[in-house]
Amino acid sequence: MPGPPADPSQTVEATRDTSLWWKSAVVYQIYPRSFADANGDGVGDLAGIIERLDHVRALGADTIWISPIYRSPMADAGYDISDYCDVDPVFGSLADADRLIGEAHARGLRVLLDFVPNHTSDQHPWFIESRSSRDNPKRDWYIWRDQPNDWRAALGAGSAWTWDEATGQYYLHLFLPQQPDLNWRNPEVVQAMHGVLRFWLDRGVDGFRIDVAHCTGKDPTFADHPRCLAGEPLADFNDDPYSHEVLRGIRKLVDSYPGDRVLVGEVNIRSTATVVQYYGAGDELHMSFNFPPLDAPWDPVVFRTCIREVDALLQPAQAWPTWVLSNHDNERHRTRYGGSMRRARAAAVMLLTLRGTPFIFQGEELGLEDVVVEPGQRVDPGGRDGPRGPIPWDFAPPHGWRAARTWLPFPPEAATLSVQSQWSQPSSMLHLYRTLIETRRASPALRLGSWEELPSPPEVLAYRRRHGDDDRVVCINFAERPLPIDLEGDWRVAIDSLPEGPDRRFDGMLQPEQAVLLEPLHRPRPQPQQQRQPLQP
Ligand code: NOJ
Repeated sequence: MPGPPADPSQTVEATRDTSLWWKSAVVYQIYPRSFADANGDGVGDLAGIIERLDHVRALGADTIWISPIYRSPMADAGYDISDYCDVDPVFGSLADADRLIGEAHARGLRVLLDFVPNHTSDQHPWFIESRSSRDNPKRDWYIWRDQPNDWRAALGAGSAWTWDEATGQYYLHLFLPQQPDLNWRNPEVVQAMHGVLRFWLDRGVDGFRIDVAHCTGKDPTFADHPRCLAGEPLADFNDDPYSHEVLRGIRKLVDSYPGDRVLVGEVNIRSTATVVQYYGAGDELHMSFNFPPLDAPWDPVVFRTCIREVDALLQPAQAWPTWVLSNHDNERHRTRYGGSMRRARAAAVMLLTLRGTPFIFQGEELGLEDVVVEPGQRVDPGGRDGPRGPIPWDFAPPHGWRAARTWLPFPPEAATLSVQSQWSQPSSMLHLYRTLIETRRASPALRLGSWEELPSPPEVLAYRRRHGDDDRVVCINFAERPLPIDLEGDWRVAIDSLPEGPDRRFDGMLQPEQAVLLEPLHRPRPQPQQQRQPLQP
């Protein structure tokens, strides 16, 4: 089912007022190993995702990004791909992928797949050929050198070069040795990878999240880099102009398809000024992840600096921002905030009211924390098991999973934080996310409006969002003590991160670690019959 969702009545209202649907989107990241398991082997699968799509819809997100589902030896949990045009048996089959795309579209959900252009698996037939002899026609599809330089690989893999005994050269891998880097300067590689994109675009996906989008181009002189000498992996700062050419080619291809397909890049460089370059002149990425909030502690200075910087640098470049607090590579934000549910609730208000597209990592809508993984249970060579724990669906063990043992243990408090438990509690985190998304969807100011910082005490972040007559204010108190804020005008609390509850006149006091979304007191309120009923999955 190619193109955008089939049932327009189910799509977000936002998609009607702009063809740039992704600006109004709320994206939900599915990590397939840990989302839902239909076949009972303890590892999530595509049939499991289909069974639980109604959860995403009931939450109110309108787009899913699914981490890699392709054939893979799983040295890096699927980011080491041995066949881009097939589904790994652990997740199901190509027919399941087609069914998933169709079922998502039928519910008004768009689907983004993870595209991993920088490297394949060492088990990919292309690499097997490439390493078979120096004169193999695919030798140049990868990056081979007689001498290594000082470039370092990520995931603690040491040198980015591995010696190949049989052919007497080193090959380059910015990640594990099982993930050799493709040579995108070879036109046959470009053609083959464009074929991969077409394969999935033809099957109807709505776009891609592009893994390490800044890594496909490498310094052609292979000069040593002092930051690598100091121990940093090249993937953390690689920024060769050729990656832009690669992205322009991908963008052109994607734009040739109908339906506003979208590219979201992982440009894992902690420099907003550099990241903004990857939007090109509107001819590279549509959106790029903005990484500083993924590491940020619960600190108003860090957030204020990052939000101001995004505003100052992206706005003039007409680059649309993204906001993300957690993903499969980083500690979950509730854990990062010291396990505080109160802070995680306030952060949800911030995530869903900033200017830009929010990305929700599965389970953050439940307030999940990282799993505690004993040394003998560790799976990821990069030490990133923590955020990857299975989603607890039901209160009672095995929490809606059909196996006695899941591939990773459940996160702490699995029973009380389960989806089932939280649906029945109106004050739960799940309902907070649902209400925030619903409110965002109904508010042009929150989806597309301007952003302006308001004067506030240093430990409070306050901003105003406006679009036409629609006017909202958000105040987030990062402090552990109550703080006042002096706002012009009269405001009503529309959403409160604390269970104190909304729908009262704002008295200018913020409770410790409280966030509120305010609307003008005299704004006409929607009649009850106009309000959407919350969906139950
Ligand atoms: C970024 C992905 O998010 C991560 O999980 C993976 O290990 C690396 N890229 C390499 O593909």
